[in-house]
Amino acid sequence: MNSINEVLKSIRDRRSVRRFKPESISDHQINVLLESARLAPSGTNSQPWRFVIVRDGNTRKKLQLAANNQRHVGTAPVVIVCCADLDSFAEFPQRVDELIDVGALPEKTRTSFVPALKKSMTTTTKSNMLVAAAGNTAIAITNMMIQATEMGLGSCWVRWYDEKKVKEIVEIPDNVEVMALLPIGIPDEHPSPRPRIPLKDITFCEKYGVKEL
Ligand SMILES: Cc1cc2nc3c(=O)[nH]c(=O)nc-3n(C[C@H](O)[C@H](O)[C@H](O)COP(=O)(O)O)c2cc1C
Repeated sequence: MNSINEVLKSIRDRRSVRRFKPESISDHQINVLLESARLAPSGTNSQPWRFVIVRDGNTRKKLQLAANNQRHVGTAPVVIVCCADLDSFAEFPQRVDELIDVGALPEKTRTSFVPALKKSMTTTTKSNMLVAAAGNTAIAITNMMIQATEMGLGSCWVRWYDEKKVKEIVEIPDNVEVMALLPIGIPDEHPSPRPRIPLKDITFCEKYGVKEL
C-alpha cells in the first residue's frame, strides 16, 4: 500500500501519547475535536455520546487517582470524560423521524421499523444497551483521536479506571456510563509505531478461517 491519503496518514501517525507538554490547548481545538465526535455514525442515529471537558487541575488529579494513578490523566492539560447516555436509546422514534425528514430512510420506516424497535426495547437489557453504547461511542472517540493527530495533538484512550469514582468526580448521573477518559495535549514524546498483528492473520477469504481460495 504505497499511496497514502491524508486520513490514512493520520491513522498511521496516531500513537497513544502519555507525556504531554504543560501548555494548554485552545477552546477552538477542543471544539474541532468535539465536532469530529459529533459527526460519528451511530445505530438509528442514536448519538448516545456525551463529553465532559475537564481542564481544572484538581479535577484532573482526582481523575488520575480514579484511573489507578495513571500519570498521563493528571498531566494532560485537558481530559475529556467520554460517556454514553443510555436514555438516548429511548429517543429513537425522534431520531427516525429526523432521518425520514432528510430522506435517509423511507416513509414506511415509521410503520415497519419503529414498532419492531419499540417492541424490542421493552425486553432489551442494560448489558445489551451497553454493548450498543460502547460501540457507538467508540467511533466518536476514535474520530477525536484521529482528528487530534491531524492537529498535532496527542491523546490516549484510558479505560482502566474506577467508574464509580469517575462518575462521582464529574457528577455523572446514573443512566450515563463512562466509556473512556481521553487525556489530550501537545505531545512531549513521539513513540515509534506499536506492534500490530499482520493483515494476513486478521483477514479471511469468504469464510472465517479460510486464508486463501
Ligand atoms: C479500549 C482501550 C483501553 C485502553 N486503556 C488504556 C489505559 O487504561 N491506559 C493507557 O495508558 N492506555 C490504554 N489504552 C491504549 C493502548 O494501550 C494502546 O492503544 C495500544 O497499546 C496500542 O498503542 P497505540 O495506541 O500507540 O497504537 C487503551 C486503548 C483502548 C482502545
